[in-house]
Amino acid sequence: MERLRHLMSPTDFTVEELDHLFDVAEDIRKNMADYAHKCDGKILATCFYEPSTRTRLSFESAMLRLGGKVLGFADGSNSSAAKGESVSDTIRVMSYYADICAMRHPKEGAPMVAAEKSLIPVINGGDGGHQHPTQTLTDLLTIRSLYGSLNNFTIGLCGDLKFGRTVHSLITALTRYENINYVFISPEELKVPSYIKEMLKAKNIPYKQVTTLEEVMPDLDILYMTRVQKERFFNEEDYVRLKDFYILDSQKMKLAKEKMFIMHPLPRVNEIAVEIDDDPRAAYFRQSEYGVFVRMALILTLLDMTDEHMNQGLLRHPGDM
Ligand code: CP
Repeated sequence: MERLRHLMSPTDFTVEELDHLFDVAEDIRKNMADYAHKCDGKILATCFYEPSTRTRLSFESAMLRLGGKVLGFADGSNSSAAKGESVSDTIRVMSYYADICAMRHPKEGAPMVAAEKSLIPVINGGDGGHQHPTQTLTDLLTIRSLYGSLNNFTIGLCGDLKFGRTVHSLITALTRYENINYVFISPEELKVPSYIKEMLKAKNIPYKQVTTLEEVMPDLDILYMTRVQKERFFNEEDYVRLKDFYILDSQKMKLAKEKMFIMHPLPRVNEIAVEIDDDPRAAYFRQSEYGVFVRMALILTLLDMTDEHMNQGLLRHPGDM
């Protein structure tokens, strides 16, 4: 029997499938009204066991803009997880309440465990320090729209490269595109994990590791800033020591190319000075806006795939046991 399609990692979709998804997202951006009833009668569940503003609410906005409805919880402590229910049991039940589910969880791999038991598509909305595939789809759409291509550029990733799941997902996704130079900018303690470096080495993709932003700023086409992930530190002292290691301000921006884009998955703490928000190179709020278009395209794509398989008798309906 055909398996349901989920999104756990950005590479779960082929490059061709992603191209199509981004084309749909661009069309949604330009012709939003045409999509207002595409999900009439459908329900999105958002099961968030960890705090979120953008991911959860952009998913909810996406489904509402498609004409569908939403239900869910924003905090695991308000769900039966507080009584000890497993994500497998929760998703099994949610399969009867909704047609598609976006899940965030502090434990790496939890959305994957849910997907294995789910009767509806599950989207990983971020699992621990592991992956954040829908942020990556947002990032790729933003790069494609602003830079004009997903090939041939130098990207600097700066900040907490150890715990930052958006960074891990983005690097993984970009390895499928051509001629990208990676510059990892982090303090020694927050270097990109070995498994990411091993993946780049195995694909013969060069990368550079530095500790100061200034030394590489003139080379970058895109600067991807990240916050230090307080919630993943084991002690407060280390966090306090590292949290303001990088602060992008107008002085540093003088070293950058005229067309270098600044990206950030947000939320920001201190790593980008507010004065930068008016710089035309600041793309981070645009990223948040594009997150709605790409999530609309993703919901449509996964529901279409599910309906197609149902119509071909390849999947069973949640109610047909
Ligand atoms: N970028 C991102 O994941 O933001 P939230 O944590 O607010 O969802």
